[in-house]
Amino acid sequence: MATHPTEKRLSHKKLERNVTLLGFFSLIAVSIGGIVEIAPLFWIDNTIEKVDGMRPYTPLELAGRNIYMREGCYTCHSQMIRPFRDEVERYGHYSLAAESMYDHPFQWGSKRTGPDLARVGGRYSDEWHKAHLIDPRSVVPESIMPPYAFLAERDLYVGDMRGDLTALSRVGVPYSKEAIAAANEDLKAQVDPAAGIDLQKRYPKAQVRDFDGNPDRLSEMDALIAYLQMLGTLVDVEKAAPQEQGAAPQETKR
Ligand code: HEC
Repeated sequence: MATHPTEKRLSHKKLERNVTLLGFFSLIAVSIGGIVEIAPLFWIDNTIEKVDGMRPYTPLELAGRNIYMREGCYTCHSQMIRPFRDEVERYGHYSLAAESMYDHPFQWGSKRTGPDLARVGGRYSDEWHKAHLIDPRSVVPESIMPPYAFLAERDLYVGDMRGDLTALSRVGVPYSKEAIAAANEDLKAQVDPAAGIDLQKRYPKAQVRDFDGNPDRLSEMDALIAYLQMLGTLVDVEKAAPQEQGAAPQETKR
């Protein structure tokens, strides 16, 4: 004969009224849930699917990115396009996880006083960026962005870029030994079209030119514009989005 339902209820009552017992069994229940979520992470290669075209920043882009952080551009600008129709129509294809996989720290941002910048690369000319950074109101009369004219007047002083690349490689950004050794030369080569050949081998799609309109000088403006002009330009998103969602795993390079 089956046990009477009240007997079962009695033993559960015991569990609910004994705080030690309840704590013990709760711990077991939570541990099982935790293991189910955490354990698979030890066996899968990567939590981010790589997509074609993604590469680490060039030393000049990295220097520009450091200026971007120093000046707090992220307090007004996000770098993550969400998969909503209004955002995609305004800013372009939504951001893929792989597009910020080499960002330490990431620049997703949490506030948009100005527009999202994740795909601003190539949208404007270098001259526009320079004019805009020197005096935003000269190109966008209603702008409330502060001016950053001093960037054009300051030489780019970065110290030894090999240190920056080494630090990033320690947290998993795949800079090769050669890339690290050449970091300081690569930084200068990117503003000098005569010297940029090796740079583009190391960093495909690297844009090599004088960015601030003053070839005699390597300024902070050069670095910041180099960074802005590459944002969102590396990955062919139409091809990469299905890749990231696992729809075409045979094409995914690991
Ligand atoms: C106080 C907020 C604020 C800060 C700080 C700020 N911006 Fe802006 N930014 C704006 C606003 C507002 C706009 C839109 C109007 C305009 O184009 O000037 C804008 C526009 C832009 C645009 C044009 C984007 C587009 O798609 O039209 C770029 C590029 C840009 N900012 C870069 C920067 C950089 C680089 C920095 C840091 C050096 C910076 N901003 C700091 C508010 C800010």
